Amino acid sequence: MDVTKVFANDIIRNRNIFDHLLLKSSRKCYKAIYNYLEDTSKTMDSDRSFYILDLGDILWKTQLWHDRLPNVVPYYAVKANADPILMRLFVLLGYGFDCSTEGEIRLALNSGADPKKIIFAHTIKTRKALEYASSVGIDLMTFDCKEELLKISKDFPSARLILRLKSDSKTSVYNLNKKFGCDLSEVENLLLEAKSLNLNVTGVSFHVGALCESPETYISAIENSRMVFSIAERNGDNGIQREYYLNDGFYGSFPYFYRDYDVKHIPLLTSSEIEKRPKYKSKVWGQTCCCEDVIMEECLLPEMEEGQLILWKNMGAYIRGVTSNFTLVPYPADRYIFIQNPRLKLDCIPNLTEVSDYIAEVANLIEQTEDMSRFSLDL
Ligand SMILES: Cc1ncc(COP(=O)(O)O)c(C=O)c1O
Repeated sequence: MDVTKVFANDIIRNRNIFDHLLLKSSRKCYKAIYNYLEDTSKTMDSDRSFYILDLGDILWKTQLWHDRLPNVVPYYAVKANADPILMRLFVLLGYGFDCSTEGEIRLALNSGADPKKIIFAHTIKTRKALEYASSVGIDLMTFDCKEELLKISKDFPSARLILRLKSDSKTSVYNLNKKFGCDLSEVENLLLEAKSLNLNVTGVSFHVGALCESPETYISAIENSRMVFSIAERNGDNGIQREYYLNDGFYGSFPYFYRDYDVKHIPLLTSSEIEKRPKYKSKVWGQTCCCEDVIMEECLLPEMEEGQLILWKNMGAYIRGVTSNFTLVPYPADRYIFIQNPRLKLDCIPNLTEVSDYIAEVANLIEQTEDMSRFSLDL
């Protein structure tokens, strides 16, 4: 039996592979796979072994990842298995890519990867590979030594840099620290060097060693990564703080408890604008004459200009109950909108016709179109 053909016919009849699989009990599936392997091995050169790549397992692991780490985008390390069929699937599933050579970058791009979702994760890059990365818009890359900083400052000065730390991976089977990463004791000098070269260090990375089974290794590596940020803060320019004055404030929508509601601020700029603009430690003041009227004492914001908007998410509960118009600052206005959410199941909504008529009457309807996704909003 040629199960591949059966699959293809069934898929045409049943619309898609998921429908097809649902129709089969797992037992029948295993039987089909067994038959398939038997048949395949008969038609193959007997001198040649073969790999089986289970794409279903990738979907399952992707689902597990989204369940357990919903805020973390996986970057697939291409070196682990540079298979073009898998690469294309990873692109479609929204993965980013960790590439260590020009060849791996080419493969990721040929598979349709977005250059903005590729990290050039070899700490020592050839000049040619750096030039290539620059030419295709891959600007995120790792470093662990002064020499690499000098090279990058010459060949790709606008790159965004990730400092790679060594981790305590003695118990891992393959200890990558023998070759890559810097010690915590070297961090300060490296950051100062990057600063003097006017380079943009944006983050920290580490590798716990391959086949690492020790949670302690992860814990200490994360703690050390946090320390890199403290060292950077200590050495940052204090004279560059920005101060912004908003048309709302402590006496309006930002009473003392507003932070308890996990309110998040989002500068209303396109993602590319946010990436381009320098980020500064910023203080955000409220509008009134009161010197305690501060919305945020300290936060990191991309440089903002007069008239630009900051969106504050999650302000729904209780806040407007306590707003005042102290110093006759007007109360905030209301704008009702309806954002089309593809996950919304219309058949679960009671009185759907009346509800939708009402919404059409009172709200501006906004589709989650390309236009909206230009903004880095997590709607
Ligand atoms: C920067 C980087 N990322 C990812 C990997 C892949 O590591 P693993 O296969 O252990 O997950 C390596 C391994 O060399 C690496 O150096």
